[in-house]
Amino acid sequence: MLLTHLSVATLQGGYGLIADAAVLIDQGRIAWVGPRAEAPSDRDTVACGGRLLTPGLVDCHTHLVYGGSRAHEFEQRLTGVSYADIARAGGGIASTVRATRSETEAQLTASALRRLDCLLAEGVTTVEIKSGYGLDHDTELKMLAVARSLARHRPVDVVTSYLGAHALPPEFRDDRAAYLDLICREMIPLIAREGLADAVDAFCEGIAFSLEETRAVFGAAQDNGLPVKLHAEQLSNLGGAKLAASFGALSADHIEYLDQDGVAALAASGTVAVLLPGAFYYLREKQLPPVAALRKASVPIAIATDLNPGSSPVHSLLTTMNMACVLFGLTPEEALMGATVNAARALGLRDRGSVAPGMKADLALWDVERPGDLAYPMGFNPMHAVIRNGSVVRGSLS
Ligand code: NIG
Ligand code: FE
Repeated sequence: MLLTHLSVATLQGGYGLIADAAVLIDQGRIAWVGPRAEAPSDRDTVACGGRLLTPGLVDCHTHLVYGGSRAHEFEQRLTGVSYADIARAGGGIASTVRATRSETEAQLTASALRRLDCLLAEGVTTVEIKSGYGLDHDTELKMLAVARSLARHRPVDVVTSYLGAHALPPEFRDDRAAYLDLICREMIPLIAREGLADAVDAFCEGIAFSLEETRAVFGAAQDNGLPVKLHAEQLSNLGGAKLAASFGALSADHIEYLDQDGVAALAASGTVAVLLPGAFYYLREKQLPPVAALRKASVPIAIATDLNPGSSPVHSLLTTMNMACVLFGLTPEEALMGATVNAARALGLRDRGSVAPGMKADLALWDVERPGDLAYPMGFNPMHAVIRNGSVVRGSLS
């Protein structure tokens, strides 16, 4: 299939814009991209109405499988109670854990699909989903199974992360070491053996797990051949990103409190900095991530919704791109790179996120003239059509 009458943001070295372009798709892959005047001919040619084509969007950090609701905590926070106070009082993540344990796979799947559909309606073709609201053996496996199953219900690639080290479950309140043992000796080997997760994540923070505990989790992941990533430096600077970098982590996420040392460590290890402006916005944080330092050190920057019931009930990657610009000072070009090529890299996926020969034909066609239009509005969805593995799965191209 040859797509014509469109401009293409290839996302190769920035927008990589080609005006009056053509894209040849063959067997689910991009076979050729360039100016229309130079395009090979194809019997199946589709004129795309002068629209803009980009890679399908990649949301590289979500917690979209969960039970219950935390809207009451939003109300509490707005009366001055902090996120950490709520967590220490047994709310926060622990409250979602209670709800997630009590729901069936069918219930969790139904609510996750509703959330996922919001992302897909905006051109997302790959989504990462974490466990971490079960914390016990059965519920963590249930969450990972539900996450994986979503790809059988919808045209999307799902990448899963095991986040057992998200919070200390109540039944281990007096024995942190025993919970770490469960994670490291039982869960990670099992998950690796059964192929249930693509990576291991942890929450390294005063209200969650220490640097030493995170090191133990990463050691187990490494021993079992799983890559790591980390919720790091969100509310304070514990040096988590540097630790993650020392394990060759795929990404360090949040990182508002990341210092220069941490930036240098990410640069040296090729770890992607994942910014989560939704959580920053909802928690009304003041500390900005070190965007200028990340740029200077050429650390790839990705952005993600962090879709979760507590700190970021954000169901829109386009809105997240806008927030990354308005709140963190990214350029719209950086925001689009952050939701495509760099987000794919944060998941260890080199076969998507840009429009180039050999890449997976996961593409989004937008009713906009310029790529800068994508991060500009809020609450407006210019998605026109989505192609996945070379087939139109939403809308129509013409
Ligand atoms: O990425 N930081 C830790 N975990 C989630 C929030 C989880 C929750 O509050 O339910 C995050 O922001
Ligand atoms: Fe998160």
